[in-house]
Amino acid sequence: MSEHPRFYDDLAACHAELWQRLEQGVSDRHSAFHTPALATVDPHGRPQVRAVVLRDVDRSAGTLRFHCDRRSEKASEIAGMRCAALQVYDPAAKIQVRVDGTAEVHTDGWFAETVWTQSQPMSRAVYGISPGPGTALAHGGDYTLPDKDDAILDGRENFCVVVIRAERLEFLYLDSRGHRRALWLRSQAGWVETWLAP
Ligand SMILES: Cc1cc2nc3c(=O)[nH]c(=O)nc-3n(C[C@H](O)[C@H](O)[C@H](O)COP(=O)(O)O)c2cc1C
Repeated sequence: MSEHPRFYDDLAACHAELWQRLEQGVSDRHSAFHTPALATVDPHGRPQVRAVVLRDVDRSAGTLRFHCDRRSEKASEIAGMRCAALQVYDPAAKIQVRVDGTAEVHTDGWFAETVWTQSQPMSRAVYGISPGPGTALAHGGDYTLPDKDDAILDGRENFCVVVIRAERLEFLYLDSRGHRRALWLRSQAGWVETWLAP
């Protein structure tokens, strides 16, 4: 039987593992952590969930970033409710991470501008789509995307950056010899941690 991972009975190591997996998800597009499920609450109080690409993680600030179109449902849900959650399960590692936090949509300020400037023309092109995301179409192909060169400017007004500030983190490791589940809650003094019954 294989040895337990080093974080198995070590809360601090679980915390480090959680952030390390998220950080890896930003740079490694093959990682399950690259495309977490994003949950929001719509104006009717109904949950909505979809995949996003994890663009950045700041372990010390406890923040995570993704990008979306400001015309999208998710952007208005986050702007309205100011909260969001992320979930990832990595079947190879048998690790699930859940993040629950406050969320902010950045559209016009220097921060969104800097991120836009740094993003690839190919990534920018999707923000120039017309009509906007979620618009009903008579045929599946009844939309246009700008040429890559135009996309340098075209999609800017539709581009936004969402930053989630984690308030609650959960880590679940599946093991037939006994699962391990851990929780961290943000407090003024830092993260307050506990094991949970799985
Ligand atoms: C693997 C994958 C990655 C995605 N990444 C993003 C993303 O980073 N940002 C985004 O707005 N939509 C992304 N999408 C599309 C969303 O999941 C969703 O279909 C779309 O944005 C509409 O969502 P909404 O109507 O809830 O706003 C991705 C979809 C997949 C399958």
